[in-house]
Amino acid sequence: MLADVVLGLQYGDEAKGKVTHYLTKFKHYTHVLRFNGGCNAGHTIYHNGKKFVTHHIPAGVFYGIKSIIGPGCVVSPKHFFKEIEQLKAGGIDVEGKIFIAENTHVIMEEHMAEEASESKIGTTKRGNGPAYRDKYNRTGVRASEIPSLKPYLINLYEEFHGDTCVNILCEGAQGFGLDIDWGDYPFVTSSHCGLGGVFLNGVSPHWIRDVWGVAKMYETYVGSKSFEPDQAVFQSLRDVGEEYGATTGRPRQCNWMNLDFLQRNARFNSVSKLVINKVDVLRELGQWKLYHKNELLEFENEAQMCEYISGVLNKVEVFFSDDKNSI
Ligand code: IMO
Ligand code: MG
Repeated sequence: MLADVVLGLQYGDEAKGKVTHYLTKFKHYTHVLRFNGGCNAGHTIYHNGKKFVTHHIPAGVFYGIKSIIGPGCVVSPKHFFKEIEQLKAGGIDVEGKIFIAENTHVIMEEHMAEEASESKIGTTKRGNGPAYRDKYNRTGVRASEIPSLKPYLINLYEEFHGDTCVNILCEGAQGFGLDIDWGDYPFVTSSHCGLGGVFLNGVSPHWIRDVWGVAKMYETYVGSKSFEPDQAVFQSLRDVGEEYGATTGRPRQCNWMNLDFLQRNARFNSVSKLVINKVDVLRELGQWKLYHKNELLEFENEAQMCEYISGVLNKVEVFFSDDKNSI
């Protein structure tokens, strides 16, 4: 029994989809499991040259691997079926590959309607918070109660704890900076985005092999709090990096990487491998900067900055990647 985990170490949008897609191709997983979040997530995946944006459905589906939405998630039947149609239209064979745990809670139409005018923290308006609230209030609805979801239901005890070996890739949504407990409350999402969230889905801690943390060479955040310093360079960064939301199209606020924050989040989640994406964006911008120990450091070139990051995160195997490369 084995499990690898992919999770975000900043504020979402770190290119977790790219890493998950890469790992599913090479690591012979039997299952890919989404362990948190709802259709607030937007994972951009290039498969055979075509662009897909998934919100609910784990990336295993692209390689015919059983793809499960776990009970740490909340699922919107409306968006779930829409996504299946989009995958089919893109030529992906989803038949018998997509599952929802019986005990996963449902995002109802009322939950989305309730968030339609929300602006206090700047949610994705996908009914995520209200669905989790009702789950914990014990007034929610589980997937097993929705007739249209019946063909997709799965019992995760039987699936993961039976006689057959499993090799699971656990695909996180959002990022640890948005975690309900460890993020900057109230500017957070309503789920557990870290390693702890994985174990709420029937996966045993003993099975964990690698935790793949995913970050970008700079930071982005989408939401109501003020995040971006008032400097023109960040507008350029946004344009070069195409930092506009995959789910809502909103401009993402940008800032330089905060290495202390990255180190904290890597430690909190026992990260063993770290992918730092979009190095090419800083290359195009021609500026190599990050915050460390409350100072803004500037490097002469890419090699210096990469060496510095790897030196600070010395317990972790660090991979630097360009946006369009696989890893
Ligand atoms: P992926 O999986 C970036 C942000 C929202 C808002 C806060 C709460 O693509 O990385 P919510 O709708 O979750 O109640 O909104 O969290 N947010 C994300 N930001 N990427 C995401 O997912 C996000 N999911 C939620 O912008 O600030
Ligand atoms: Mg996103």
